[in-house]
Amino acid sequence: SQSQQVITCRAAVAWGKGEELVIEEVEVSPPQSQEIRIKVVSTSLCRSDISALDSQPIFPRIFGHEASGIVESVGSEVTEFKKGDHVLTLFTGECRTCSHCTSGKSNICQVLGLERKGLMHSDQGTRFSVKGKPIYHYCAVSSFSEFTVVHSGCAVKVNASAPLEKICLLSCGAAAGMGAVWNVANVLEGSKVVIFGLGTVGLSVAQAAKLRGASHIIGVDINSAKCDKAKAFGVTQFINPNECSEPVQQVIKRITDGGADYAFECIGDTGMVTTALQSCCDGWGLTVTLGVPKVKPEVSAHYALLLTGRTLKGCLFGGWKPKSDLPSLVDMYMKKEIQIDEFITHNLQFEDINEALNLMREGKCLRCVIHM
Ligand code: APR
Ligand code: ZN
Repeated sequence: SQSQQVITCRAAVAWGKGEELVIEEVEVSPPQSQEIRIKVVSTSLCRSDISALDSQPIFPRIFGHEASGIVESVGSEVTEFKKGDHVLTLFTGECRTCSHCTSGKSNICQVLGLERKGLMHSDQGTRFSVKGKPIYHYCAVSSFSEFTVVHSGCAVKVNASAPLEKICLLSCGAAAGMGAVWNVANVLEGSKVVIFGLGTVGLSVAQAAKLRGASHIIGVDINSAKCDKAKAFGVTQFINPNECSEPVQQVIKRITDGGADYAFECIGDTGMVTTALQSCCDGWGLTVTLGVPKVKPEVSAHYALLLTGRTLKGCLFGGWKPKSDLPSLVDMYMKKEIQIDEFITHNLQFEDINEALNLMREGKCLRCVIHM
């Protein structure tokens, strides 16, 4: 209802596979009837942005899907938001009316779910252009831009006193890890947990498992530099598989006396899904996958792993219903019941966004927050 003008602003545009992002002047359309336009305040870089940049043939494109911002204008049919509202973007939306949203069993919205073609849900179009050329979106969020347009079902209003430069992490990785433990696995007190991959996702799993009172939290990572931070988030034992003389699943079986109750794959390597299943105990061992693989998407496992009672369970965004559940997670952060500040290893200005990509490629960061 407010400004129905095209906005010209800076955005980091990906022109080709694996290439550095280029800061360009782009045009951002006004929001359509059910959309909102957001002034992005902070956006953190998540591994999935890099995986998609390196593998998907959709260009030019604006990445970024873990973000916070302030509503700049709203479409004619939007009543839920108004100019000035503080929001988190949602890379998977919640329409609140489809069969899944109303089921109480699923967060996989059938209307505003994960968008893979680089277009907007409303009309399969784009809201960005550069020099007259349309620019594709990413997850219908595209937060590597000073302004972006999202569907009103792909944003959630949050407590205005929460620091936007921190809570952007709850829009993807940190929330996903915690949700996998609480909603998907429902980890019980005293249980044995193993986590493959100790980035922000894996360390969020560790934090949530510790809050549930897990007795063993075994962290597995090929980068030994992750060890100290992992311990700070609750990991009780760190294993670098490259420093083991036997397969890591055997080491885990030994230290857990038969296998873990729960294993979490937080790398995005389907080979590690097999290893995770092999690390679980007979009878009730549960493997939860959080990683998003960019190569070899097929999972393989000997059927005997299942015959002996193990479960393999997938999830998106840790099972959270994004619009319904995120405000209370923000409130938990405000009450200091969960930690997210510790995931932020770097704060960068927008023009230095490629530095964030380099840091993540080199395994030198957890989360880089980019301040717009
Ligand atoms: N074995 C053990 N650890 C590994 C291996 C491996 N073969 N390969 C990578 N790792 C470790 C990395 O060293 C890193 O510490 O996995 C960790 C992954 O962390 P990040 O790259 O920081 O990624 P994060 O943002 O935590 O996301 C993890 O979840 O959402 C998905 O797309 C995301 O698939 C990715 C995963
Ligand atoms: Zn829905």
